[in-house]
Amino acid sequence: MKKFSLFFHPAEIDLSFSPFALRLDNQTYQIMKASDENIADLLGLEQEVYFGRTPWSRFSFKSELKKHANSLYLVVYQGSTLVGFVGMRMQAQEGHITNIAVKPAFQKRGIGGFLLRTMIEIAQKNHAVQMTLEVRSDNYNAQSLYRKIGFRDNFIRKNYYSAEHADAVSMIKKIADREQEEVN
Ligand SMILES: CC(C)(COP(=O)(O)OP(=O)(O)OC[C@H]1O[C@@H](n2cnc3c(N)ncnc32)[C@H](O)[C@@H]1OP(=O)(O)O)[C@@H](O)C(=O)NCCC(=O)NCCS
Repeated sequence: MKKFSLFFHPAEIDLSFSPFALRLDNQTYQIMKASDENIADLLGLEQEVYFGRTPWSRFSFKSELKKHANSLYLVVYQGSTLVGFVGMRMQAQEGHITNIAVKPAFQKRGIGGFLLRTMIEIAQKNHAVQMTLEVRSDNYNAQSLYRKIGFRDNFIRKNYYSAEHADAVSMIKKIADREQEEVN
């Protein structure tokens, strides 16, 4: 409890983000905080990666994008094309990745990894000690990326994606900033 009160001050969570031009694999992208104006593009991207389905509805995106106090959503554009997005919720000393996707034609160019590392850095600045996420147990591509970034299997959530009768693997990556390492 002492450690908790030392490091977790919800009022002090800083999820500010300044947009910038991202250069990756000889391509230039714009990365910025997501807003309601991006929702149509986010739904379009979901449909593309999930073969016509939108696991998150317009309502889900809209309500998530309102949670400014503890959530951060980033979008990556190339010109007017949304090529990727990521979301994170800060809870206690944990950064939880809520959603991530990259447009198929832009996958395997480092965008997903960049987005995850960016969120890890932001969580570290906010004194998180671990990152977590859920991924479908048969989504081997995403799991492979998460493992490369240092996530490990934590436990199985049976029937987490109930509509599809699919399990989720809950994955975890321990992180700690220098201040915490020194005190611990
Ligand atoms: C998971 C996802 C976000 C990764 O984005 P990305 O921009 O392709 O990721 P990166 O380019 O940074 O990383 C590439 C690594 O991811 C894994 N990977 C991603 N796509 C892959 C594919 N089609 N086949 C095999 N491995 C793949 C590999 O480990 C790969 O490493 P490698 O290039 O050394 O083989 C993307 O594949 C995606 O949007 N998938 C559909 C949506 C989804 O499943 N989201 C995750 C929900 S939990």
